[in-house]
Amino acid sequence: SPSDPDLVERARAAKEKLGDKVFVLGHHYQRDEVIQFADVTGDSFKLAREAAARPQAEYIVFCGVHFMAESADILTGDDQKVVLPDLAAGCSMADMATAEQVAECWDVLTEAGIADRVVPVSYMNSSADIKAFTGRHGGTICTSSNAKRALDWAFEQGEQVLFLPDQHLGRNTAVRDMGMSLEDCVVYNPHKPNGGLTADELRAAKMILWRGHCSVHGRFSLDSVNDVRERIPGINVLVHPECRHEVVAAADYVGSTEYIIKALEAAPAGSKWAIGTELNLVRRLANRFAPEGKEVVFLDKAVCFCSTMNRIDLPHLVWALESLAEGNLVNRIEVDKETEEYAKLALERMLALP
Ligand code: 13P
Ligand code: SF4
Repeated sequence: SPSDPDLVERARAAKEKLGDKVFVLGHHYQRDEVIQFADVTGDSFKLAREAAARPQAEYIVFCGVHFMAESADILTGDDQKVVLPDLAAGCSMADMATAEQVAECWDVLTEAGIADRVVPVSYMNSSADIKAFTGRHGGTICTSSNAKRALDWAFEQGEQVLFLPDQHLGRNTAVRDMGMSLEDCVVYNPHKPNGGLTADELRAAKMILWRGHCSVHGRFSLDSVNDVRERIPGINVLVHPECRHEVVAAADYVGSTEYIIKALEAAPAGSKWAIGTELNLVRRLANRFAPEGKEVVFLDKAVCFCSTMNRIDLPHLVWALESLAEGNLVNRIEVDKETEEYAKLALERMLALP
């Protein structure tokens, strides 16, 4: 949708007034009307690094979702303030692992006698509490762009991995990138006693996958892949690793949002691409690459926005920027000190991965 010219002008003016005091980060799934005001765009990993690299900015306005803003707060200085333009911009996947559930899971692993050889690896898409749990138990954070390196590292520290909260990223990385088999993976269901697993099953698994998933990427199916290959012969199928295993197994290429953009930049004119990720990004890429003769289509027939990413719209951004320009600190995301200490440990292990 075209952005309201009055709001565009107000956002521009507020940002100009703030000058170097504000730095705006935008995730690739953000709306066009918002992303135009981002000083830097990126995938989760790039945005975490960018946040950490801006010590001169008093305000980091994070156009993305809650877990990303929390991670930015953890990685920035105490005097820097991270602002999320709409506090309701959460992530349903991150909500699938609560601190209580994960503590209970660790008790189950302890009772099965394996807690001392299990290393937790948590996807960036998790709350600060889960990141702190991960740091406390010697684990690391990963994103979709470094999951293999994180798992390689984890298997140097221990013999088994507890992967939270996205079962698909965990399974896809283990099977597709690391040569494990589907039988090496078990799924821990936090809604069942003992995760729905016996102690023997827990002991035998290499990967203990938390039963979480992304509702946006979960909608792509093997049928979507087969249909698009039939409709558009010669098409390349490129999907995000949050997609289900059978979708990833049938795709030609798999990677993070930043990887998807780079792949299209490097693609030859005349090539055709079906993309399995969020729709704001896919539409933007379709428009950007059409003049170069690269055809980009959405992998599924149904529309598939991330509703929480979409909560950050131009009115919310204008409100946040104008409030900051008037000296009102609104919608600050601030992780408490103790959580921050351990979550930072886990995030820094990720940033130090080779
Ligand atoms: P990326 O790290 O690939 O940008 O993914 C973030 C995300 O939330 C995907 O759903
Ligand atoms: Fe969360 Fe999925 Fe939205 Fe990413 S696309 S923020 S994983 S709900």
